[in-house]
Amino acid sequence: MTTQTRTPSPSPQSTRTQVDSAARRIAVISSSLRDDRMSPPVADWALAALEARGGVEPDLIDLTSITLPDDRLLYPGGSPRTDTTDRLADAEAFVFVTPEYNHSFPASLKRFIDWHLSEWSFKPAAIIAYGARGGYACVEHLKGVLNELDMVTVARSIGLQAPWEHLNAQGVYSPGEGARGALENCLAELHWWTELLSWARANRPFRT
Ligand SMILES: Cc1cc2nc3c(=O)[nH]c(=O)nc-3n(C[C@H](O)[C@H](O)[C@H](O)COP(=O)(O)O)c2cc1C
Repeated sequence: MTTQTRTPSPSPQSTRTQVDSAARRIAVISSSLRDDRMSPPVADWALAALEARGGVEPDLIDLTSITLPDDRLLYPGGSPRTDTTDRLADAEAFVFVTPEYNHSFPASLKRFIDWHLSEWSFKPAAIIAYGARGGYACVEHLKGVLNELDMVTVARSIGLQAPWEHLNAQGVYSPGEGARGALENCLAELHWWTELLSWARANRPFRT
């Protein structure tokens, strides 16, 4: 009979100090490209809430400042790197700020998503959508795409109806208490998934 010495795998509990002390890198993706678009004030609102929570290193990725390669070079799993590949790889979690266009999210965001693959995998994502009718159709479409990329989407997504009605004189998005509370809950859930999935990617990577 042989005896095996097993080194116990680290658990979330045993790495708590390390997990809690690290600032979480969270990329906030501002998705629309139009002149006069609403995504910058809504993204700034999310950034301010992330910063207020503390322990976060936010990285604002504004799709108007991203250059993607020619789509003829797109290849599943083998596309060329983009100017944003490293920033996405470094992020532990994502906040997608997106309008609803014709019942879905804009083509600019789909193209950006498609140009990356492993950078998304096994990471959590929160969705903050907005539109004339609140953006929830867009949330559901985006969830399906992100789930295909092995991402975990938080249940507490946000849909903001007509956010342009809540811009103050400085153009800052200043919604009421309901939206602020919803954002707090959304980010609390994102934080929870971020801790769990960062630990899991490092200590218990998924294998088929
Ligand atoms: C092409 C287009 C399609 C739209 N379709 C919808 C829609 O299906 N549902 C909705 O609630 N709002 C819709 N809207 C309204 C937008 O959500 C709203 O104008 C929003 O501010 C657009 O985001 P942006 O300002 O960041 O570009 C649409 C707007 C555009 C430009």
